[in-house]
Amino acid sequence: AKNTTGPSDRPSDSATHQTAGDGVATMTTQQGVAIADDQNSLTVGTRGPVSLEDFQLREKLFHFDHERIPERVVHARGYGAKGYFESYDDQSQLTAAAPFSEAGKRTEVFVRFSTVAGSAGSPDLARDTRGFAVKFYTDAGNWDLVGNNIPVFFIQDAMKFPDLVHSVKPEPDRGFPQAQSAHDNFWDFVSLMPESMHHLMWVMSDRGIPRSFRMMEGFGVHTFRFVTASGESSYVKFHWKPKLGVQSVVWNEAVKINGADPDFHRRDLWNAIEAGDYPEWELGVQVFDDAFADEFDFDILDATKLIPEELVPVTPLGRMVLDQRVDNFFAETEQVAFCTQNVIPGIDFTNDPLLAGRNFSYLDTQLKRLGSPNFTHLPVNAPRCPVAHFQQDGHMAMQSLSGRANYEPNSWGDDGGPRENPDTGYRSFPAEEGGEKRKLRPESFADHYSQARMFYRSQTEIEQQHIADAIVFELSKVETHAIRTRIVASLLNVDNDLAQQVADGLGIDEMPDPLEPEATPIDVATS
Ligand code: HEM
Repeated sequence: AKNTTGPSDRPSDSATHQTAGDGVATMTTQQGVAIADDQNSLTVGTRGPVSLEDFQLREKLFHFDHERIPERVVHARGYGAKGYFESYDDQSQLTAAAPFSEAGKRTEVFVRFSTVAGSAGSPDLARDTRGFAVKFYTDAGNWDLVGNNIPVFFIQDAMKFPDLVHSVKPEPDRGFPQAQSAHDNFWDFVSLMPESMHHLMWVMSDRGIPRSFRMMEGFGVHTFRFVTASGESSYVKFHWKPKLGVQSVVWNEAVKINGADPDFHRRDLWNAIEAGDYPEWELGVQVFDDAFADEFDFDILDATKLIPEELVPVTPLGRMVLDQRVDNFFAETEQVAFCTQNVIPGIDFTNDPLLAGRNFSYLDTQLKRLGSPNFTHLPVNAPRCPVAHFQQDGHMAMQSLSGRANYEPNSWGDDGGPRENPDTGYRSFPAEEGGEKRKLRPESFADHYSQARMFYRSQTEIEQQHIADAIVFELSKVETHAIRTRIVASLLNVDNDLAQQVADGLGIDEMPDPLEPEATPIDVATS
C-alpha cells in the first residue's frame, strides 16, 4: 500500500478524506482485499466476544507485532540522506575506481550519519564519535566508505572491539548508564588500554559534540590502497571536508539541546535538504607509497594513528552533495547495510588488523539484523549496475534466476548465464606476504602517546580547556577512585598541564607516577 500523503501535502483539515473515493485510495489488506471498516473488530452480537474469524484484525496485529528488527549493535542512532558524488577529474593515474574515471562524472550515494554508543532512541548531541558511512552506487558495483568523524580509532586490533563496545554500553547488571562517556566501565577499559588515548583526546575535544552533521569531517581511518588499471598501487587515507567548516557546540549547549530537542541533528539535516540548502563535502585523499610508509614514525597499518596533513597534504578528488531526503526512514536509513568489504576494482585493503575484523563483522551482523542473505535485493542496498550470479533462494528472495543454469561451468552456451570476466573482474593487489603465524602486536604499534600529545597541543587554549573540562566532568561521574587515578597517570604521558588540571579538578592531591609509556594492558592493570 502506498501512503500518498507526504509532509508538504498534508491536508490542513484532518477530518477530511476519511473514506476512499474522489482521488483517495482504497485501503486494502496485504492480500489486496478492500477494507470496509478499519475502526472495529468483528464481534458476535452488540457487546459480544471478538470473533477469531476477523482476518483483518489478525493480519493488522500480526504485522504490527513484527515491526521491529534488531537495532544495530553499534551506531544504532542514525540518519540518512541521498545525493551524488561528482569527480573533479579523470584520476586514472591514481585508481581505476569507477567514480573517479572522468571529470564531472556523477555517482549516486546514500549516506548515514550516526552516533556510536547510544540506542536508536538516544539523543543526538551525546558526546561520542559520529559515523559517516557512504555507499557509492558505482557502475562497477557498490563501494562503501564506512568512516567516522574522527580520523583514528580506540583500538588497534578487532579482537578488542567487542570489549570496547561492551564497555561503552549500559552495564549488564544495572542496565545503565546510557551516557557512554560518564561510565566506570568505559573509563576502566580505556585506562587499561593505552592505545585508546589518542581517540579519547579527540572525543573529549569539541569534535565529540558536532553542531550539525553538515559541519563534520569524515575519515576512512584505515589506510586503503588505490590500484590503477595497469596494477600500480599507492596507499590512501580518505578525508571528507564539509563546505560549512567544522563546527561544534559546547557541553552546556549540548545538554540543553538534548533536553529540548533530542532529534536536533536529524531535524537539522532534514530541514536543510527540504530548504534546498544542500549539505556538501569535498572528498580528498592523502596518497603515499611504501618509501613514505617505511620512513614514517608510526605504522600506517595502525588505526590509532593519523598521517599529519603537513606531511602528506590532502589531494581533492571531488565533491558530494546531499540533495534528497529519504522517502521512508525504515526502508532506507534503517535497512541500509554498509560494509567495509564492499570495494570495487581500483580500491583494495591493507593489512590493518582492525580492518580485517570489520570486513568480517558487518556482513555477519547484517544477516542477523536484516534476517536474510537477500538484503542486497532491497532497493537501498541493491547495486545500480547489472547484477548476475548463481546465488539463489533463501528468505525473501525477490530477484530470481531465469533459465536452466544455476552453476558453471556448464554446457548451455549463450543460455548458460553469466561467466567470469578476466578483463573487468576484481583482482586483489598481489602484495607479497609471508612469515610466522603469531598472536603478538608488532613493535611498530607500541607508541600510544605521541600523537595524543600532538593532537592536544594542536588545539587552541580554549579548546584545550574544553578537553580538560570534559575529562574532569566525565571522570567525576566515575565512582572508582583507582580508575580516575589511572587516567591521570596515563595523561601524564600526554601533557603534564592537562594531567595536573584533571587531577586538580578531581581533587586528587597526590600525583601518581606516569604509566609506563609502552605498557601493555596487563602491565597497566597491575601498575
Ligand atoms: C557499524 C563493527 C570499527 C564505522 C558497525 C556495525 C558493526 C560494526 C557490527 C553494525 C553494522 C550494521 O548493523 O549494519 C565494527 C568492528 C570494528 C569497527 C568489528 C573494529 C574491529 C569501526 C571503525 C569505523 C566504524 C574503525 C570508522 C572508520 C562504523 C559506522 C557504522 C558502523 C559508520 C554505521 C554504519 C551505518 O550507518 O549503518 N560497525 N566496527 N566502525 N561502524 Fe563499525
